[in-house]
Amino acid sequence: MSKGRIFSGVQPSGRLTLGNYLGAIRNFVRLQDDYECIYCVVDMHAITVWQDPAELRHTTREVAAAYLASGIDPAKSIIFNQSQVGAHAELAWIFNCVARMGWLNRMTQFKEKAGKNRENAAVGLFVYPNLMAADILVYKATHVPVGEDQKQHLELCRDIAQKFNHDYGQEFFPVTEPLIFGAATRVMSLRDGTSKMSKSDPSDNSRINITDDSDTIARKIRKAKTDPEPLPETVKDLEGRPEADNLLGIWAALSDITKEEAVAAFAGGQFSGFKQELADLAVARMAPIADEMRHLMDAPDHVDSVLADGAARADAIARPILDEVKDMVGFLRG
Ligand code: TYM
Repeated sequence: MSKGRIFSGVQPSGRLTLGNYLGAIRNFVRLQDDYECIYCVVDMHAITVWQDPAELRHTTREVAAAYLASGIDPAKSIIFNQSQVGAHAELAWIFNCVARMGWLNRMTQFKEKAGKNRENAAVGLFVYPNLMAADILVYKATHVPVGEDQKQHLELCRDIAQKFNHDYGQEFFPVTEPLIFGAATRVMSLRDGTSKMSKSDPSDNSRINITDDSDTIARKIRKAKTDPEPLPETVKDLEGRPEADNLLGIWAALSDITKEEAVAAFAGGQFSGFKQELADLAVARMAPIADEMRHLMDAPDHVDSVLADGAARADAIARPILDEVKDMVGFLRG
């Protein structure tokens, strides 16, 4: 029995990181047996900042390959790229007319991404969360697995669902629940434990890319910033030690244990020994995924056919829901 319907997405805007994997993709794999799952490569979100077209095609396939290589089974779950299912854009327009300027003005991610040059940001970047709400609600998804940084966007999605239901007088859209779980819901930069690990950080040493080879992974972990103290005895002692906290969180997530257990395993130890073990573990977990991705990228026709098949299945779910929305809004349709 399915516990509900899941939707989630990853942007094809550069290389995927260990943060994307531990915060999101790995959890996508785990949810497949209990939920009906729809996993999207959100190419329309990616172009809210400039993407080179050839690069976008490549990265779209690469995110799909990462889904497959991580263990998402296209027979069980739907894998597709957003722009192949027109219903997302159609519902997003309706949500542009439901969401309020004030709500979007509060979005911290827009402020971060637009920076000081707000006047020059694409309009699409501002309404980005409305498209995200459309992604989720066009399938009436009940649960959305994401990393910590997407929490505010999911709250907006709930607000949009509730306002739409209220405006049109029907409990139509579900009020979606975020699923944020695991020991690494917010993986931080390896160079600065107070900023998020991100594909857009200018320093490649700040992150582990999902496609990094074994030597690169080991080198980046050896070079990761630490502090001069030995490893802490309790989780509480991690306070004020963001780098130790981050590395132990990564260890815990990769070993499938809690942070408490990871802290206990290394209590009082030196960083050097811990880093060596962490590097070995990260290589053991991540290198097979990178190998399988390379293998899949050598045969892009297979990836493309997974995306086309997924798009047809996604469209079959979304279309009737969008048709009902159009009737509720008062749009004539043939
Ligand atoms: P994106 O592409 O930035 O990231 C994809 C997923 O990875 C998670 N993530 C992290 N988790 C832990 N630590 C990190 N350092 C880290 N960096 C990224 C993100 O939380 C996300 O779950 N807006 C979304 C994409 C999207 C979406 C959706 C998600 C579009 N439509 C509908 C859910 C439902 C985004 O930019 O993710």
